Amino acid sequence: RNELTRKSERTYAMLKPEVIPKMGKILSFIEGKGFKFNRMMLTKISATRAAEFYKEHLGRPFYEKLVNYISSGPVLAMELLAPSAVRYWRINLGPTDPVVARSDAPNTVRGLFGTDTTYNAAHGSDSPEAAARELNLIFNNLSSHYESSYTIKTLC
Ligand code: PPS
Repeated sequence: RNELTRKSERTYAMLKPEVIPKMGKILSFIEGKGFKFNRMMLTKISATRAAEFYKEHLGRPFYEKLVNYISSGPVLAMELLAPSAVRYWRINLGPTDPVVARSDAPNTVRGLFGTDTTYNAAHGSDSPEAAARELNLIFNNLSSHYESSYTIKTLC
């Protein structure tokens, strides 16, 4: 489709705990790709909310590890806007495994900033429906832009 006619879309992106100390570099990368930061919040997600967030993976061998990890420290929750944002963010995120990313898609968030399949820097919704669910789950009662940017809140 023509660049000019592509519809703007929103997606849910989340920087995972291990990259919070180097979030500046990652935010520059995201900004450089043309995404608009519509909402962002530094927060800590409880294990209960993390279990709900990742419920599509319930029963998979890594489920508990994933839930424990994501609730182990602060994350940066973001609503990103761009044409075809869901797909565009997944492309810029790169493959789940940063080792694969470094060989196949080095100029991606995971290729540049990830370590392994657990510590893989960031999350991205895999469909517009998932984006709506995830944004609602994380930002539900919050409406102002850049809310709590500098405060760590706990979502229970
Ligand atoms: S899928 O659905 O098969 O494509 O799964 P995938 O995208 O590979 O992974 C889904 C999320 O699970 C995380 N993951 C893991 N966490 C901990 N340990 C292991 N071994 C592991 N394998 C996969 C992966 O980082 C994905 O997290 P999100 O936040 O969705 O990117």
